[in-house]
Amino acid sequence: QKRVTVADLRRARREGRKIACLTAYDAAFARLVDEAGTDVILVGDSLGMVVQGHETTVSVTVDEMVYHTRLAAAGRRHALLMADMPFMSFTDPAMALRNAARLMQEGGAEMVKLEGGAGQMAVVEQLSVHGVPVCAHLGLRPQFVHKIGGYRVQGRDAASAQALCEDARALEAAGAEMLLLECVPVSLAAEITEAAGIPVIGIGAGAACDGQILVLHDVLGITPGKPPRFARNFMPGHERVGDALRAYVEAVRGGRFPAPEHGF
Ligand code: KIV
Ligand code: NA
Repeated sequence: QKRVTVADLRRARREGRKIACLTAYDAAFARLVDEAGTDVILVGDSLGMVVQGHETTVSVTVDEMVYHTRLAAAGRRHALLMADMPFMSFTDPAMALRNAARLMQEGGAEMVKLEGGAGQMAVVEQLSVHGVPVCAHLGLRPQFVHKIGGYRVQGRDAASAQALCEDARALEAAGAEMLLLECVPVSLAAEITEAAGIPVIGIGAGAACDGQILVLHDVLGITPGKPPRFARNFMPGHERVGDALRAYVEAVRGGRFPAPEHGF
């Protein structure tokens, strides 16, 4: 079976087919996520929380991302494999290039994701020029948790909504292949998706995005504590993990997830 490529993702956006994405951090789950028909597997730095048990993602290192990307690569067959650039791993273009190269060459990733706005244009340009496909993560950026003072919806007032639209435009112009919007109002996410020329993936960003992503542990209902409002546990009604993952993929493809209650 053919691998999913960035060209396939662009075509899906053009043709209005929803893109289904999930995280995975090891071979066993990457295999299940892949077999469920997921288009993109993200080795997210959320592993700092859901795998390592930390309170935030800020302690995750490049070595750890490379390790988990390699594990996920071993279980993946069909999906495009994307890996997160962890906190402080892309503070200048040369460093970003070095670390992205490790995720691709040692880890086996085909795309990297980084949290950033227009301030990361030089980094995205450098990666793009050297053949590294970049997904720019906008809106709520969990690596900024200590600067924001918590996890909350972004782009609620006119000024920050305007800034988000400009960030999206700037990053696309810098060469980003994909955008990811986390926790932004449904109407703003729809506006950014409409204006973009590249696929836009949402998490807590409403149904108008070109695709959706959730953290695997939230989909399986095994995240300790209260799940985020934008997530949905797909396990109820299913006996097997694979069936729940397939239900998620089908709900995204069929436009049944996210529902209005998952949005802001
Ligand atoms: O690290 C992660 O899992 C992510 C997704 C929530 C988008 O960045
Ligand atoms: Na992340």
